[in-house]
Amino acid sequence: MGNPIIKILIADSEGAACDKICSFLTGDPAYQVVGRAVNADECMGLALIKRPDVIIVHNGLKPTSGIEVCEQLALQNLDSATLLVVAQAMDENLFRRMMAAGVSELLVAPLQKNRAIDAIRNAFDKKAGQRHGDTPVPNEDSRRIIAVTGPRGGCGRTMVAVNLSCAIAKAAERTSPGSKHVVLADVNVRAGDAATFLDIRPQRTLSDVSAAATSVDREMIESLLENHPSGVTLLSAAATEPYERQELSRGIIVSTLAVLRSRFRYTLVDVGVTGTEVSNVTLDFCDTILLVVGADLPRLRAARLYLCHLLESNFPREKIQVVLNDIQPESKTISTSQAETILEAVVAARVPHEGRFVPDSINLGQPFVLTHPNCPASQAIHGLAAKLGADIGKGSAVKGLWKRLHWNAASQAFASTVYAVPTRGAS
Ligand SMILES: Nc1ncnc2c1ncn2[C@@H]1O[C@H](COP(=O)(O)OP(=O)(O)OP(=O)(O)O)[C@@H](O)[C@H]1O
Ligand SMILES: [Mg+2]
Repeated sequence: MGNPIIKILIADSEGAACDKICSFLTGDPAYQVVGRAVNADECMGLALIKRPDVIIVHNGLKPTSGIEVCEQLALQNLDSATLLVVAQAMDENLFRRMMAAGVSELLVAPLQKNRAIDAIRNAFDKKAGQRHGDTPVPNEDSRRIIAVTGPRGGCGRTMVAVNLSCAIAKAAERTSPGSKHVVLADVNVRAGDAATFLDIRPQRTLSDVSAAATSVDREMIESLLENHPSGVTLLSAAATEPYERQELSRGIIVSTLAVLRSRFRYTLVDVGVTGTEVSNVTLDFCDTILLVVGADLPRLRAARLYLCHLLESNFPREKIQVVLNDIQPESKTISTSQAETILEAVVAARVPHEGRFVPDSINLGQPFVLTHPNCPASQAIHGLAAKLGADIGKGSAVKGLWKRLHWNAASQAFASTVYAVPTRGAS
């Protein structure tokens, strides 16, 4: 068996040291930069979510200094080695604090490639030596953040997020009754409607508390959680007065996800609008991106472009799962395999059009997986719950519909050379 990949988190407000370390590691499969933090809150959140092997912290981090962040990390009892980057040879006091915080290695800027890689490797080996004989914590590894997103509005993202949460909660309830395993976080401040889908009227939402704070703690989050009879816990960020609230800041979303992940086995996030900071941070932090795509040509085209964008932004293909949603009765004229060929991605699930159950379930605030567990849409959602994490395969070329999509030459070339074309699909 080969050496494990060393997962690295870098915290650096200026970004220069971070860029440099990334450039040192580019192309080396032994290392993977799993996160970049620009301040202490992000660093703590990412450390809890991504569980890196090595955390590299620049001492010039603002507003909390790097050494203070190392001290905070030490208190968290994480299984990560820390490295501190300083601008110049340090004083005795800093050295003492470094020792007390268990910082493994020190890097002095300007960074040198060989020295940086040696330090990362040494820090990793030292930590591995310390943990020799320890047993891993399986619960941490099985926690999942699933971001439900999609390139266009009105494609069924909230419908999928709500019903999938209920389906997972029901399944989890069967295996360990009485426990709360699933939280649905609606992070859409301006137009979040997951609470309506569940017929819940939150007393306060995340947008109420986030206006005055840069991060949230567990106590604050606990005070906002709402329980649904399905076993799903809801955290809503939807503002009651839509246009008076700002979007959630990076700090808020990072700390929220860290708290939820530490509390629940499954955190589903209804991301809402794409291209926002909330969306970018959530996609970065999550384990799985569920891309909900309406099954008609304009929406497939938008989805194809969005998928290209995600892959070009270095999201691993296996992190992205496509859900095809027949929002129109006519959607079935496009087969699943045609959609897969257009998207160049496997469809993990296809939710059929349900002209009665779906709109009724939304208007009544009763998820259809609970009220009509055997209808085809519910079966698709249950199948999706079971399928999350399935492999991405390879497959055949596109024909008829392709011509109507009007890709430019560059994107066609990119598609044919870079993408794996899928074979496996949903029925
Ligand atoms: N499979 C389906 N069958 C019938 N109607 C559907 C289906 N999926 C979605 N719809 C309809 O599409 C509408 C939009 O769904 P939903 O609100 O979940 O989309 P969204 O992507 O979350 O939109 P938004 O941009 O508002 O966040 C709903 O009112 C619902 O009635
Ligand atoms: Mg929605």
